[in-house]
Amino acid sequence: MESFVHLRKGRTPKRLHADLDGLKDDELGRGGFVGRTANIYRRHDPTAYRAVGPLRPLDVMTSELKPSDATDAAGTPLLLFSNPDCRISLSRRTEPMPFFVRHVDGDLLSFVHAGAGLLETEFGPLRYRVGDWVYIPKATTWRQVPDEETTLLMIEATDEFRVPPAGPLGRHFPFDPSQVTIPEPQAIDDDGRDEYEVRLIDEGGPTSLFYQHNPLDVEGWRGDNFPFTFNIEDYNVIASESVHLPPTVHLFMQATGVAVMNFLPRPAETVPGTERPPWYHRNVDYDEVSFFHGGDLFGIPMPPGLISHAPQGVHHGAPEKARERARRKFDEQDRVGWKVISIDTTRRLTPSAEVLAHDLGQHA
Ligand SMILES: [Fe+2]
Repeated sequence: MESFVHLRKGRTPKRLHADLDGLKDDELGRGGFVGRTANIYRRHDPTAYRAVGPLRPLDVMTSELKPSDATDAAGTPLLLFSNPDCRISLSRRTEPMPFFVRHVDGDLLSFVHAGAGLLETEFGPLRYRVGDWVYIPKATTWRQVPDEETTLLMIEATDEFRVPPAGPLGRHFPFDPSQVTIPEPQAIDDDGRDEYEVRLIDEGGPTSLFYQHNPLDVEGWRGDNFPFTFNIEDYNVIASESVHLPPTVHLFMQATGVAVMNFLPRPAETVPGTERPPWYHRNVDYDEVSFFHGGDLFGIPMPPGLISHAPQGVHHGAPEKARERARRKFDEQDRVGWKVISIDTTRRLTPSAEVLAHDLGQHA
């Protein structure tokens, strides 16, 4: 049971995530970072282990992966991770889709890591650019027409992606609703072909529906179930002077068993002694996938396109060297420059064979 009383035993710093005096700051918390918790102060780096067996952190450069849609207009995204609540895939499409798609198992939320182009949807056209989140409701028909090679990190839920409750942060948390782009209806004329294929994307299949007219023939729509884009440049990042805030304040959208967060550039904590990098933890109740869009962490570039998976129960965190550097450069650095997309899931994620084959082996 949660209590306002937090016990303090043995040697502990007076402030949270600060003034460690050589100790390693490790959190054992329930429900992500919002449940019962214990901050544990240890002698040694808890990520200094060698893992044998399936529950080990993985790091993969997605630029090394080859989704079939990168080279074949009829190709598909590449599955990276999955569990009963979601599938996480990588797409690198260069050619317009010669078909339409409809994700029939749940909503689709995609992050544009690179490229620009057009999504033709039943609700009308949506332009996309780098840094966009693209939300497409379950069973909506759409088609991608890239202007250039487009790298998407795609998250398919098995139900709805919802905007989290605003709570005490107000109606403009987690983002200003006026900053989303919503399509205007635009029916598309037939182009003379015999049939229009709509591929149903689901766990089984494959199934295709064939129409004799362009299925994007909507003259108008109304309601509250529609696709939209939102660019991370328009995200209002929440910051604190005296403590590194938990990832939950950066929650963007959520589905059952899936939470999606944006870690974006912000002012660094300024109170002397404050630990700026996230503390060590083992996400007791969540698997965690982090996708490095770019930016830097206190002057050290973050490799764009790196994706890492930390299974629940297994320690992870910034390397000790990076923590020492952040303390050393405390007076020189005043910004956190990272651009990271994070996906936390309550059920264990299974990495695909391609991901396992490309693991950089940092914990092997
Ligand atoms: Fe984490």
